Amino acid sequence: MKSNIILIGYMGCGKSTVGRKTANILSMPFLDTDQWIEEKEGITISELFATKGEAYFRELETECLKELLKNVNLPTIISVGGGLPVREENQRLLKQLGQVIYLKAAPDTIYERLKGDSTRPLLQTENPLQKIRDMLFDREEKYLAAAEKVISVDGKSVMEIVGEIVENER
Ligand code: S3P
Repeated sequence: MKSNIILIGYMGCGKSTVGRKTANILSMPFLDTDQWIEEKEGITISELFATKGEAYFRELETECLKELLKNVNLPTIISVGGGLPVREENQRLLKQLGQVIYLKAAPDTIYERLKGDSTRPLLQTENPLQKIRDMLFDREEKYLAAAEKVISVDGKSVMEIVGEIVENER
């Protein structure tokens, strides 16, 4: 039986877009942890950060993984928030949940995709490119620790990336 496929990586690396397309092609359901949290709390991620703070959001991310481990029955494509794999506990839960793939993007790629975006509270700073560089530097080892496969996305189309994900699945 197919297992869940979990896409991790920094904001703007294409997890949701690539995840939806992959789910479509493999006829699998798609789930996004940010969306799960927004639906559970009834507010957007930005509102959640502003009203309850990042620490509360991080607790919800772990809760989400635990719920998915209990309740996901069909093999599902799961896209997770960019900061979720940072917690060691989450790295363990991700591995239990399925095959973890890291969509690796360079800071410049991310910056180009996300400049002007107002939905990522952590990037609402004076120098978002520097913030992206710093956070990626800190997170890279965590992404690598969680993932069993790494796909570089720089300069690739959505379909090229989907192709690399599905090549072992059919
Ligand atoms: C975050 C990434 C976001 C969202 C939140 C925090 C992060 O998800 O979970 O804004 O810490 O990198 P995406 O990676 O889907 O943008």
